[in-house]
Amino acid sequence: MKGIILAGGLGTRLRPLTLVTNKHLLPVYDRPMIHYPIECLVNAGIDEVLVVTGGEHAGDFLKLLKNGHQLGLKYLGYAYQEGEGGIADALKLAEEFADGGKVCVILGDNIIERSIYKAAADFRAQPTGAKLLLKQVHDPQRFGVAELDGSGNVTGIIEKPKDPPSDLAVTGIYFYDFDVFNICQTLKPSDRGELEITDVNNAYLKRGDLTSEILEGWWTDAGTFDSLFRASELVKDGGANNKA
Ligand code: DAU
Repeated sequence: MKGIILAGGLGTRLRPLTLVTNKHLLPVYDRPMIHYPIECLVNAGIDEVLVVTGGEHAGDFLKLLKNGHQLGLKYLGYAYQEGEGGIADALKLAEEFADGGKVCVILGDNIIERSIYKAAADFRAQPTGAKLLLKQVHDPQRFGVAELDGSGNVTGIIEKPKDPPSDLAVTGIYFYDFDVFNICQTLKPSDRGELEITDVNNAYLKRGDLTSEILEGWWTDAGTFDSLFRASELVKDGGANNKA
């Protein structure tokens, strides 16, 4: 299974910091943000990775990461997203790289405490479809949120609901079979003008081919001033991507 890190977008919520650099190159405690999703993939046994980025500072990723060998990668490739068409728009650029296989997709601003090695192994054994990692949060309105039936099965996902059906956020770590690229072709832009990853996940749900599990340990994004600050504190206190 290959890995895809989505690190495009304009990081408008972090201006003025993101006027002079890409959001994913900002420091989270003692490392640039992009190091964390790379390490997460490496710890899950994934050593072929594509970074999708964009904007004026895309060249700085090459300066920082080079060929990725120092971070434990066998292969590191780069793709360039024009504009800010959404997470699923960025994902479309990885079709050639995926080369017919399964992928683990991680948002470049997501950081976790523990390893996803077991979830990756479970998905390797899953014949088809998609797998999501969910996490209980106190502010579900900020995320994609899972709707559950009485037995705890996911029945729907709502993007940034005003009235959340649960407190389980859909984290930015997704496992997909190669059909994800066909699903991406069918998407229409949302009200905010983006191709939404939540629409991709709901398409798998409609087919009855979506599994999910609760992520262990803490999880945070780092795309707002509060979450960026909290991410640094969490990493300083306990480290990230710790092996089980
Ligand atoms: O963090 C998890 C959440 O991420 C999920 O719960 C939501 O369902 C999902 O939509 C997303 O929500 P955000 O509003 O936080 O996403 P954001 O626009 O901040 O983008 C997250 C990352 O995705 C960003 O760090 C880089 C990548 N991205 C985003 C956009 C809009 C791209 O590569 N290209 C893009 O055009």
